[in-house]
Amino acid sequence: MSKDKVQIFDTTLRDGEQVPGCKLNTEQKLVIAERLDELGVDIIEAGFPVSSPGDFKSVEEISKLIKNATVCGLTRSVKKDIEVAAEALKYAKKPRIHTGIGTSDSHILHKFNSTREKIIERAVDSVKYAKSFVEDVEFYAEDAGRTDNDYLAQVCEAVIKAGATVLNIPDTTGYCLPEEYGAKMKYLKENVKGIDKVILSCHCHNDLGLATANSIAGVVNGARQIECTINGIGERAGNTALEEVVMILKQHPYLNLDTNINTQLLYDTSQMVIDNMGIYVQPNKAIVGANAFAHSSGIHQDGMIKNKKTYEIIDPNEVGVTDSAIILTARSGRAALAYRAKKVGYDLTKIQLDEVYPIFLNFADKKKEIVDMDIHLIIKNSSVDC
Ligand code: KIV
Ligand code: ZN
Repeated sequence: MSKDKVQIFDTTLRDGEQVPGCKLNTEQKLVIAERLDELGVDIIEAGFPVSSPGDFKSVEEISKLIKNATVCGLTRSVKKDIEVAAEALKYAKKPRIHTGIGTSDSHILHKFNSTREKIIERAVDSVKYAKSFVEDVEFYAEDAGRTDNDYLAQVCEAVIKAGATVLNIPDTTGYCLPEEYGAKMKYLKENVKGIDKVILSCHCHNDLGLATANSIAGVVNGARQIECTINGIGERAGNTALEEVVMILKQHPYLNLDTNINTQLLYDTSQMVIDNMGIYVQPNKAIVGANAFAHSSGIHQDGMIKNKKTYEIIDPNEVGVTDSAIILTARSGRAALAYRAKKVGYDLTKIQLDEVYPIFLNFADKKKEIVDMDIHLIIKNSSVDC
């Protein structure tokens, strides 16, 4: 059975770049955009053109450069924003305007001092106006995560009628539980007239550490686009991490969902974003963290040396990491020491290993990690003749 495609909408250069300390210049954005295109993302959200002349220029230059992906610019439900975005996108082969407005009661009352009816009018007007410039118009219902489903369905139906091609259902505050977010998508699928003509999109924030889980719940319940960033960078606790959702779908083929991502470029792309933005990922970050394929406990190392699949669900090569690492610490056993010693040129017999191991443990108790140089030293300090 052929798999359904999930579109990957990358917003590293918009939702990711707006984070303090992540600011990029146009040249850096072009390098990253070109890499995202090579990686196989379907949509690159290049920026928020009305926000500054620099952002306008970046969106314009990215539009000229990108050959495959759709290039998207963000706007509010404001005419001027839409005009400026259309202008910045005019060179794009496949332009998309991403316009929208807050739909939760909290946004309607406190941000807009408005009513539900008036918000629908503004939403419809902005989609129609964007549609007068480009064919592909995505609508976002900001804070959809906390918007009552019945009203959200009315908003969705109205913007579909106005010509929206994609409906973005953002969990802007990262509040939803996966069951809730999945149920929201299901509700929209079942209750919005015309929903089958458009793509439903997940846009999840990570305030409770659930952005990835929520995005997966979204696609399991009918969404076919995930909005995400490299390394999960983004507002506050960040956005859904691209590398995580892509590998989850790859690792669970029974979901019958697939992406166009060339996963072998994931690690390198993560490093490129770290280098340019200067924002590091924690060592235990899934897929791209320094320890994602490193094994340090004796029990795990023994299992890994016997068969990698014992403790690894992903072949590191699949995401562009050369090899798994067996880290030598005072928790390592004989098997790990023999394995690493062999890698640096010592094929120890059982008797030799028995002699070297206590020396190794003594050494390891004083250091965080035993590196190759230490192995040479340990063997020199033993009576083993290699
Ligand atoms: O989190 C959010 O709601 C957004 C929208 C502007 C799409 O980033
Ligand atoms: Zn967002």
